[in-house]
Parts: sequence; C-alpha cells; structure tokens
Amino acid sequence: MANGLKIAVIPGDGTGPEVTREACKVLEAVASLEDFRYETVYFDYGGDRYLKSGEIITEQQIDEFREFDVMYLGAIGHPDVTPGILEKGLLLTIRFQLDQYINLRPVKLYPGVDCPLKDKGPEDIQFEVVRENTEDLYCGAGGFLRKGTPHEVATQEMIATRFGADRCLRWAFEHCRSRNDRKQLTLVHKTNVLTYAADLWYRAFEEMGTADYPDITRDYNHIDAACMWFVKNPEYYDTIVVPNMFGDIITDLGAMIQGGLGVAAGGNINPDPGGCSMFECMGGSAPKYTGQDVINPIAAIAAMSMLLRVAGDHKGAENIRRAGDRIEQAISRTTPKMKSMSAGRMGYSTTQVGDLVAEAL
Ligand code: IPM
Ligand code: MN
Repeated sequence: MANGLKIAVIPGDGTGPEVTREACKVLEAVASLEDFRYETVYFDYGGDRYLKSGEIITEQQIDEFREFDVMYLGAIGHPDVTPGILEKGLLLTIRFQLDQYINLRPVKLYPGVDCPLKDKGPEDIQFEVVRENTEDLYCGAGGFLRKGTPHEVATQEMIATRFGADRCLRWAFEHCRSRNDRKQLTLVHKTNVLTYAADLWYRAFEEMGTADYPDITRDYNHIDAACMWFVKNPEYYDTIVVPNMFGDIITDLGAMIQGGLGVAAGGNINPDPGGCSMFECMGGSAPKYTGQDVINPIAAIAAMSMLLRVAGDHKGAENIRRAGDRIEQAISRTTPKMKSMSAGRMGYSTTQVGDLVAEAL
C-alpha cells in the first residue's frame, strides 16, 4: 500500500467495541480529508473468545501483528474472567513481545472539561508522561516459598537494566526536545529508598542529559512528591519520565486531573524501525455500561489521534501526522459541547459524540 497504513484492531470486551467504532468512524473521516489510505483488520481477542476456546493469544498471532504498522485496542477485561488473566495474557504479552518499551500518556485537560482541581484550566494541565513499559515489577520475577503455610514468603523483584533505562530515557529526552519550548524533563523515582534501581536510573539520566541534551533542563521528583505536585501544581510539569510501576500509578492520577478515564489515552510504542506500536484508551471495559451507547468515546478517539501522529512520524508521512493533529483539534472543539465526561451524563450518546468529533474535523 503506497503511503497506506495497516492497522490491526482489537475492539476487545465490554464497551471496547463501542468506543472502537467511534474511533474508526473518525479515522475514516480524517483519512478522506487528509487523503491517505489505510486498511483495518479486526481480531476478536478478549474475554469472550477466551471463555469459549480457552485461548488468550498465540505466539503465531503475535508474529502476525509484527506485519502491521500499528495496532489499536479498545478495552479488555471480562466480569467472568479472573482478574489478571487477560491483562497478563493479552495486554502485557503484546507490550512485552512486541517490545513496546515506551508507554506515552499525555495528561491534557481539554477545553470545557471539569477538572477536580480548584482554579486549574487547560493551560495548567498539558504535560506528558513517558512510562517505561517492559521492565520493573512487571517482569514477573519472584516467587513463593512455603506457599500456603504460616511461614510463607513471597518476593516480587524490581528489575532495572541500564539498557532498558537508557533506551527509555533517550526517547524521553528526544520527545521532550521536540514537544515544545519548555524543554524540561522530570525523572520520577524513589532515590531515597530504592537505592539500587533508582540509583541506576538517576545516573543514566544525569549522564545522558549532560552528554547529549544540554538544552533540556533536568529535574527530579520522588514518586510520592510527584503525586502531591500533580494535584497542587500540575502546571509545573512538561515531560515526565518514569519506570513502569510508578508510571502506572501516576498516570491514573493524571487521568483524573484531566477529567477522568473517559478522556485519557495512551500509546505503547516500539520506536525501532519496523516496530509495531499499540494505542488504547486507559479506561477498562466498563461491563455495566455495555451496549447502552452511553460510554465516553473521547479517550478512544484521542488514542486514534496518537496512533496517527506516531505512525505518521514513523513512516515519514506528513499527512498522516497531520490527521492525528486534526483529530486532537476536533476533540478540543467537541468537549466544550459535552455536559460531562462521565458515562450517561455527557448530554450525548457514544455515537453522537463520535459524530460530533467527525463533523468538527
Ligand atoms: C494500564 C493498566 C495495566 C498496567 C494493567 C491492566 C495490566 O493498568 O495500562 O495502566 O498495569 O499497565
Ligand atoms: Mn494502569
């Protein structure tokens, strides 16, 4: 496909298919405006398929995904499946196997969106979190000893490698440099307690910053302090770089200050040439709202915007990148019309919000 984009779509469980439909509607509209071709191939992975067949995903399927430019994921999580099975078996497996080592999560308060922080507006909340996505407590290293006895021992190890820290930091410095004129990168960790893992990250950060990024102001926050500043002075942040587990936690806090999970999107990025990245909304499958056409699709549409920006840059296709920007602007023109970002209280249905964004393009 000349200049075309090959997208693997996993709508997933619960409300995942509903929000995916709106994101794909907006994709179709923007593709015709920006004149690029794309192909979507749908995969039914998720809770239902697992309950029917016992299969979560196969190695062979993961290899097939490598042939796509990008992936799009609606939501996974099923009320009849024990928590952890699909998350580990599908989401984390894709992230790890496709080496999507960057998890980019913008924290952006769109116009007209209620913010739980007093006196803060869109100009105060517009930072981005670069979360390492393949290491740390997520590696699954550890185990039990004497399980089920009163003398049980459980260990869960935090893995930090210099290679993993360096590649994430490199991407974060570059991203920070190209993002805007602020050029401030904050490393978030816990150097006062995690004297090995945090020490490795801190040294890597200082060495790389001194050698290659003198134009970028380096800043450091402990994770607990960062939680405090997110609430007190979110305007302080420009770009944040953080290891996996702490990044998971602070990005939920970030999602809340940008108006909730109905708005928050993220990308699991493999920046290497030929790498396949996956974009998703941060919210879950919201089983109780399934099939009601009331869930907020803004996060899913924002994930599509990120997909196009990253894919456009990756492929060097200016129109695809512009299509991503265009969706983001259309979201900014749509949110002021909505009553709320919460399911059932938007003043519009899921489908209508998708229509509004498509029209605003
Ligand atoms: C997220 C989620 C996942 C994570 C879960 C579902 C495994 O919370 O994307 O933030 O911990 O990374
Ligand atoms: Mn999370």
